[in-house]
Amino acid sequence: MNSDQKTATAFSTSWNNLPEGTIYTYEQFADWFHPLKEENIKDKKILELGCGNGSLMVHVASLKPKFLTGVDLGNSVSSCEINMRNTNYKNYSIIKEDLTSFLTKEKYDLVYCIGVLHHLKNPLSGFKSVLENTEKGGRFHCWVYAKEGNTIIRYFVDPIRRISSKLPWWVTKYCIATPLSAAYFFYAKTVSKITLFQKFPLYEYSCWISKREFAFFRHVAFDQLVTPQTRYFSKKEIKNLLKITPSIDLSSTYIIFRNGNSWKFGGIKH
Ligand SMILES: C[S@@+](CC[C@H](N)C(=O)[O-])C[C@H]1O[C@@H](n2cnc3c(N)ncnc32)[C@H](O)[C@@H]1O
Repeated sequence: MNSDQKTATAFSTSWNNLPEGTIYTYEQFADWFHPLKEENIKDKKILELGCGNGSLMVHVASLKPKFLTGVDLGNSVSSCEINMRNTNYKNYSIIKEDLTSFLTKEKYDLVYCIGVLHHLKNPLSGFKSVLENTEKGGRFHCWVYAKEGNTIIRYFVDPIRRISSKLPWWVTKYCIATPLSAAYFFYAKTVSKITLFQKFPLYEYSCWISKREFAFFRHVAFDQLVTPQTRYFSKKEIKNLLKITPSIDLSSTYIIFRNGNSWKFGGIKH
């Protein structure tokens, strides 16, 4: 069995049990993609590695790329297909394959990989695939969980995940993720309203997520608790990742701390 197959199967229980359509607002999509601009997508060849149910692809499609490919190892490709078919964008393809070995003759102007590398058994091979699929002069853009700012998650939620990821998915969703996310929903809504709470754990993240309804909180909690494989990256590890890869134009790279508990990073391939 492929080393990430269990993870992809676990995620498909999350993606394939959601209402149709993207789970993200346009504002969330734009925030994930910043500092990329519309011009980095419009009329460009775009690849998403680890596309889930296509929640990001739906927004990318609205910016009219030349064509858009999504790759995922899980059965979530079926909900991705439904969500993409419901857009009026036609130039897309969805491929069920392991992203770490995915390679076509076609290279892409932009390859993005959001919320995926930290779930791979071998994140380095995932990152190499991001670059191998990027055209010379093209861009890559990734987002991962940070070691920094996630103490509570790493020491409280992660031990629960090690157990909950072995349970039937519906037990994890309804008996663990639901009560935990209800408690966090109350915390985030309270903390985000009071600037005096700025020093409280997950303050920035709480401000970001508290714009959304309870169902989104539960989706995020379930995603975290259902997956058998998660790691957290320090800024130093990301710097090293960028440094050890000779095909990257180092002067073009960026590493951005997002919501106080994650990293966006990217750049241009030369
Ligand atoms: C947290 S989801 C992120 C989905 C999407 N990028 C988003 O942000 O909505 C991680 C996805 O990576 C996929 N995945 C994990 N390992 C993979 C692999 N080796 N090859 C392809 N997809 C993989 C999972 O199936 C899952 O859909």
